Amino acid sequence: MNRKILLITAATLAFGMLLPGSGARAQDAPPKMPYVFAMYCVMCHKEGVQIGPTGIFDMISKSGNPLHEQYIRNNTRFGFNAMPAFRVSEVSPKELNAIVTYLKEVAAYRKTHPGYKPVPVKEGGGKK
Ligand code: HEC
Repeated sequence: MNRKILLITAATLAFGMLLPGSGARAQDAPPKMPYVFAMYCVMCHKEGVQIGPTGIFDMISKSGNPLHEQYIRNNTRFGFNAMPAFRVSEVSPKELNAIVTYLKEVAAYRKTHPGYKPVPVKEGGGKK
């Protein structure tokens, strides 16, 4: 168990330096999207909508720089231009942690699985 946590931490920290050569990582399933992210963020930050930048799934900001974890937190709490702010009652501190972790994991996953789309683009677009 501890080893697994260590491995995940190491993988997260090393992300960007180690990835190309490290074929030894065990888990190959895409990271699971936190419920709050699906509920509050996807509607704007998805391909085909792109009201919000989709670079967040690669941890790249719209300016092309690496997206810093603190920037994700600040944007979520305080909003920025058209990006709304989310209160603690909407996105709890724990949930915000989960969002940050998720975005890092997706970015890492997309490095080894470039075609992976966290939110598949639907054809036909019918509203429900
Ligand atoms: C109403 C649409 C909308 C929703 C909902 C939304 N965002 Fe955004 N988001 C935006 C827009 C628009 C921007 C770009 C703001 C700017 O830089 O002018 C943005 C920017 C960001 C950025 C910075 C990206 C960059 O390239 O600088 C992050 C990180 C982010 N959003 C995360 C989230 C998270 C996490 C959630 C859910 C809790 C969320 N957003 C919900 C519209 C939205």
